[in-house]
Amino acid sequence: MLEKIVFIGAGAVAESLIKGFLDKDFITPDRIWVNNHSNTDRLKELEEAYSIRTTQDKQAALKNADVVFLAFKPKDTAEALESMKGFMKSGQLFISLMAGVPSDYIVSVTGQPVSIIRAMPNTPASIGLSATGIAAGSFASAEQLCVAKELFETVGTVSIVQESAIDIMTGLSGSGPAYLYYLAEAMKEAGVGEGLSEDEAARLVKQTLKGAAALLHRSGKTPGELLQAVATPGGTTEAGVNTLNRHQAKEAVIDCVHQAVRRARELSDPFST
Ligand SMILES: NC(=O)c1ccc[n+]([C@@H]2O[C@H](COP(=O)([O-])OP(=O)(O)OC[C@H]3O[C@@H](n4cnc5c(N)ncnc54)[C@H](OP(=O)(O)O)[C@@H]3O)[C@@H](O)[C@H]2O)c1
Repeated sequence: MLEKIVFIGAGAVAESLIKGFLDKDFITPDRIWVNNHSNTDRLKELEEAYSIRTTQDKQAALKNADVVFLAFKPKDTAEALESMKGFMKSGQLFISLMAGVPSDYIVSVTGQPVSIIRAMPNTPASIGLSATGIAAGSFASAEQLCVAKELFETVGTVSIVQESAIDIMTGLSGSGPAYLYYLAEAMKEAGVGEGLSEDEAARLVKQTLKGAAALLHRSGKTPGELLQAVATPGGTTEAGVNTLNRHQAKEAVIDCVHQAVRRARELSDPFST
């Protein structure tokens, strides 16, 4: 049983996990602590919304913590770790949510053999539907990997991968919701362009995405099989899909993911030890 979970960083990702853990009754709010850099209004807001505990003091935050989430931006890594390193204890599990920061780098800045798990959730964690990838980093034991898996399973599915694959997950599933929002926005614009109201078009697109995702999950069929089943030769869907092919939309999506993965790897360059 975890006595104390701490978030260092109080942004959107920290909040989506806190909300997910509490919604699933995984832990009581009094065992969740949050610390940030300087925004006291934000800490107050989280305290009021979730009845959790907050502190501006790193020592108080880390004291007796079982699990510590590193939920700040990569650019703030050095400063945040410097301010924490005097209070880190062996046996504590550090789960880094940061894109592009290798666990070796965290060990080198803290100068201690701290146990690190890298994790890449996505924002649907706030409604229990994250696709999270986790990897054992420096000094993490198999038991600690199980703890991390259990934590993230409360907010969705978990894939255990090698640390080198976290950059791939960052570009695929971490950024993935944004690609689908992009598609949804374009479909809505097309509906409005054809004469539907904004509201009608938005409602139809939302339900279409939800229904298509559910069918993909439940039918046991591949996306390609589902596409074939709906695209009757000479029909409307085929006319639409042929247009996507003419615009090389598939190649564009593949390149989109490649570029996001490339960027994740590029972001990690300054942190190579
Ligand atoms: N967005 C996503 O979908 C997603 C998915 C997976 C992982 N991630 C990763 O999750 C991390 C957090 O992202 P986010 O979108 O939640 O960021 P965010 O909203 O910008 O929040 C960053 C937080 O870090 C705090 N912080 C900065 N320096 C600090 C320090 N020295 N000590 C303690 N706290 C400090 C900030 O505090 P102040 O406000 O006081 O400055 C703020 O609360 C990033 O590393 C990102 O790569 C994001």
